[in-house]
Amino acid sequence: MKKLVGLCIPLLLAIAMLSGCGKDSSGSNSATGSGRQQSEKNTETTVSNKTEDSDHMDSNATAKKLVVYFSMPETTNPENMSREEELSTVVIDGEVLGNTQYVAYIIAENIGADIFRIEPITPYPLNHSELEDIAQKEQAENFRPEISGTVENIDQYDIIFFGFPNWYYDMPMIMYSFLDQYDLAGKTVVPFVTSGASGFSDAINTIKDMEPDADVVTDGLSILRKEVQDSESDIIDWLADKGFIQ
Ligand SMILES: Cc1cc2nc3c(=O)[nH]c(=O)nc-3n(C[C@H](O)[C@H](O)[C@H](O)COP(=O)(O)O)c2cc1C
Repeated sequence: MKKLVGLCIPLLLAIAMLSGCGKDSSGSNSATGSGRQQSEKNTETTVSNKTEDSDHMDSNATAKKLVVYFSMPETTNPENMSREEELSTVVIDGEVLGNTQYVAYIIAENIGADIFRIEPITPYPLNHSELEDIAQKEQAENFRPEISGTVENIDQYDIIFFGFPNWYYDMPMIMYSFLDQYDLAGKTVVPFVTSGASGFSDAINTIKDMEPDADVVTDGLSILRKEVQDSESDIIDWLADKGFIQ
C-alpha cells in the first residue's frame, strides 16, 4: 500500500475538507478556493528592468488559476487493498486519494488555485474489471458521460490545470465532456496526467484540437503511478520551473 504520512498532510487535508472531495457544502460540485488568501498573491510588479522571462513568471504567479481534475481511486478503504486498488491510490493519514487527485491537491496548494473535481452523474464502479469494461465501452462509443456540477464563472480563470489518469492511451471520456462543455479560449491550459506507463499518449494534441483558441502547454506534467507517492518535490520543482511558483 502506498501510505504517506508527514509531508504537507494538514494542508492537503484542509483542501480536501474545503473542496469536500469536489463537492461544496451545498452538495454541488463547484470550484472551491484553496484557502489561500488573495493578499498572498504576488503583486510586486514595480521592478522596471525585468526580463521577458520574469514578466512571464510574474503573470503566471498573479493569474487566477483553477485545477480541474478527474480521478478514480478504486477503493475508499485504506486497509487490505488489492494490487489494482494499491496502484490507483495514495493513502494519507487513513484517507484514500486517487493518484491524480493527490497530484491535483499538491498543485492547487502550491499555486493557490481553486479546485474542481470532475465527477460523473452516474458514478463509476470501484470494481476494477467493471471499470475497465465501462471505460472501454465509453471510448468505443465516443460517449460523453454527464458531469455532476459546474465550474461557476469559468471566465474568471486565466490558467486551467487539467488533470486526468491515462485510460486506454487516451483521456477518460469525461474529460471530453468537460472540453465540450467549456470554452477555454484565451486561457492557458496546463495538462497533467498520471499513468501506468503511457504518459499523455496523444491527449495533449486532442486537447489542442478541442480547444483551438486556448494556449495549451505542450510539455505538461506526467507522473507514473509508481512514483506518485514520492512526487511532491518533483511537482513543486516543475511548477517553479514553469513560473507558477516564485
Ligand atoms: C480503465 C483504465 C484504463 C487504463 N489504461 C491505461 C493505459 O492505457 N496506459 C497506462 O499507462 N495506464 C493506464 N491505466 C492506469 C492509470 O492511468 C493509473 O493507474 C492512474 O494513475 C490512475 O489514476 P487515478 O487514481 O487518479 O484514477 C488505466 C487504468 C484504468 C482504470
